Amino acid sequence: MANILFVKANDRPADQAVSVKMYDAFLSAYKEANPNDTVTELDLYADQIPHFGNDTITANYKLANGYELTAQEQKAAATAARYMDQFLASDKVVLAFPLWNYTAPSPMISYISYLTQAGKTFKYTENGPVGLAGDKKVVLLSARGGVYSVEPMNAIESAIRPIKAALGLCGIQAEEVVIEGHNQFQDRAADIIADGLRQAAEVAARF
Ligand SMILES: Cc1cc2nc3c(=O)[nH]c(=O)nc-3n(C[C@H](O)[C@H](O)[C@H](O)COP(=O)(O)O)c2cc1C
Repeated sequence: MANILFVKANDRPADQAVSVKMYDAFLSAYKEANPNDTVTELDLYADQIPHFGNDTITANYKLANGYELTAQEQKAAATAARYMDQFLASDKVVLAFPLWNYTAPSPMISYISYLTQAGKTFKYTENGPVGLAGDKKVVLLSARGGVYSVEPMNAIESAIRPIKAALGLCGIQAEEVVIEGHNQFQDRAADIIADGLRQAAEVAARF
């Protein structure tokens, strides 16, 4: 029996948002294939994930060095620990997010900042950083209206690439399922989306 964490960064309704459709398709196929697993869902918009910033940075520094925290820093530390502990307790993680304005929505970027913490998910060595979370399986589900999988657009795709890089720092080789081009090729949009949702369900059944 595995613990699987589903994280969503899109607050649009499923009938309008392709990445939410992917999330739903993956979740339902996964549950069907793994009825005994423990499934946890984290909706980053509903959770109103706080921006990662000075309160969290200072709180982590003070905790590591034995200083007293202010009430505000204690709150920030508790939030950071909640996201980190939940992630570390998961065997598998699904991250679903769209490409909006060339990047991932800011709640997902904040979430990744909470996860990339030295001493927890990676450590510094003389030879550079080494990942500590390589035992986790992670899949990224993302949709984008244009085609970014081929040159020259692949160089400006900034939703999946930075998240994969941060996870790589943690030792995680994330798999990805992408639906793309449904806005660029509107005459084929329905087929592109249907194929992608089928693929998401297939990956979920063996994940
Ligand atoms: C606010 C916003 C910004 C977007 N920016 C881009 C973009 O920069 N490039 C692109 O190809 N598609 C863009 N799109 C289209 C989305 O990538 C497309 O709707 C895709 O399905 C992911 O969003 P969704 O899951 O909310 O549907 C944008 C859509 C929205 C709503």
